[in-house]
Amino acid sequence: MAKQRSHYVCSDCGTTTSQWVGKCPGCKKWNTLSEELIPDSGKRAHRHQSNSTSSKAKPLATVEVSTIPRLITGETELDRVLGSGVVPGSLILLGGEPGVGKSTLMLQVAFSVSATGHKILYVSGEESPEQVRMRASRLGEVPESLMILPETRVPLILQALEEDEYSLLVVDSVQTLDTPTIDGVPGSVSQIRESVASITSVAKTRGLPVFLVGHITKEGSIAGPKILEHMVDVVLQFEGDWNHAFRLLRAAKNRFGTTSELGIYEMLSGGLKAVENPSDVLLTEAGEPSSGSAIAVSLEGARPMLVEVQALVSTAVYGTPQRSGTTFDLRRLNMLLAVLEKRCGFKLGSFDVFLNMAGGMKIVDPANDLAVVAAILSSSLDLPLDRDVCFAGEVGLSGEIRPVPRLEARMAEASRLGMKRMLVSGHSKLPKSPKGLEVISVKRVSEVHSKIF
Ligand code: TYD
Ligand code: MG
Repeated sequence: MAKQRSHYVCSDCGTTTSQWVGKCPGCKKWNTLSEELIPDSGKRAHRHQSNSTSSKAKPLATVEVSTIPRLITGETELDRVLGSGVVPGSLILLGGEPGVGKSTLMLQVAFSVSATGHKILYVSGEESPEQVRMRASRLGEVPESLMILPETRVPLILQALEEDEYSLLVVDSVQTLDTPTIDGVPGSVSQIRESVASITSVAKTRGLPVFLVGHITKEGSIAGPKILEHMVDVVLQFEGDWNHAFRLLRAAKNRFGTTSELGIYEMLSGGLKAVENPSDVLLTEAGEPSSGSAIAVSLEGARPMLVEVQALVSTAVYGTPQRSGTTFDLRRLNMLLAVLEKRCGFKLGSFDVFLNMAGGMKIVDPANDLAVVAAILSSSLDLPLDRDVCFAGEVGLSGEIRPVPRLEARMAEASRLGMKRMLVSGHSKLPKSPKGLEVISVKRVSEVHSKIF
C-alpha cells in the first residue's frame, strides 16, 4: 500500500505547508502548525461527483427565497442580537470563555423554543446527560420535547436527526465533534472542518437552524481554525467579567443582520436573566458623590444606556507612570490624556491614571470620551461631580468636542433616569431637549472644567 502523504495545517488560519515550520507563513503566528494526513484523492473526487447535479448557473432573480419564517427563540436579548430570530438552515457559532454561561444560554434557548411546541436535539459532547439535567432543573421545569444526545461522532448525530423531526439542533461543543473517516483528534483543524461541513449540508438542505458552542483561546479568538468562522453564518461572542454577574452577547459576524446590537444578561442562581434597562444596573448606587466618577450616555447598537466611568489619578510611585484601563481602550486613554495636557495645560505626566467602567462592561463608544475627561478632571482635582450631570461627546485631537450620533435618543434616556444636566458638543444643531434636562453645549475640552465645577 502506498504511504499516505501528510501536510502541516495552521490551527489558526488554516494555511497548509508541506514541511513543518515554527512560524505560520499565513498568519505569522508561532507554533500553530500540526501534521495531518492528506485525505484520499479518491474520496475528494467522489465528493465532487455527488455535488455536480446542483451546480448549474441560473438567473439570480429566479432563485426562490424560502418563505419559512425565522425561528423566534424567545430569549429576547439573543433575538435582538441575531436581528429578530434565527434564520432557517443557518449555523450560529457561540464562543466564550469556560464558565461564562454558554451551555446555560443554550439550554435556556432550548427551553423557550420548546415552549412553542418545537422539538429540539441537544447534543452534549462535554457533559453527561445527568450533568445537563442537573443544570436544566435549576432553570425550571424541563420540557418534554427537549431531547438530549450524549454523542461526539458526527455520523451518529446525523442519524439521530434523520430519526425525528427537529426544529433546532444545539451542539455543545464543536471542539468535541469527531468524524471517524478523517484523521486527527477531535478539536483538530481537519476534524472541526469536516464535522462542521457535514452538519452544514444537512442543516441547509432541511432548513434546520444549528447552534454550535465553541471554546475560545487565551487570546480570545474561537479555538480551532479561523475558517470555522467563515463556514458559519453568525458568530456570537459571549463575554463577561469574573467579578461581575453581567454577561454581554455580541455578534462578531452576522449574515442576516447588524453586528452592532448588544445583548445584556445577568447570571443569577436561576440562570441568565435578560437585563432590559441596562442603565439601571450600570450606574452604581447613588450615595455620597465621590470624586473621579462621571456618567456617560453611551450607545450600544440601537440602545442608549448610562454608564458610570470611574477614574483614579494618583502620584506615580515608580518612575514610569501607569495607565491602566481594564474596560477602556488604553490607546484612547493615552490620547485623551495627551489632549488634556496639550489643550488644557493639565499636566498628568507624573501621575498614574486608572480608568474603569462600572459593572465591568466593555462599551466602546467614542461618545464616552467626554465623561472620561470629566472623570479624570474630577479625580485629579478631588472635586466630586453632581450625580445628576451626564456627558456625551467625542474628543478630537485638537481638543474639539465632536457631535455624536442619535443625540435625541441619548437625551431621552438621560432624562428617563433623572439626569438634570447633559454636556454635549456645541458643534451641531441640538434637538429639542426633554423636559427637566438642561443641555449644555461645549465646543472645546478646555471649556469643560468651567461648566462642571
Ligand atoms: P456554563 O453554562 O456551564 O458555562 P460554559 O458552558 O460557558 O462553560 O455556566 C457555568 C457557570 O454559570 C457556573 O460557574 C455556574 C453559573 N450558573 C449560575 O450562576 N446560575 C445558574 O442558574 C447556572 C445554570 C449556572
Ligand atoms: Mg459548557
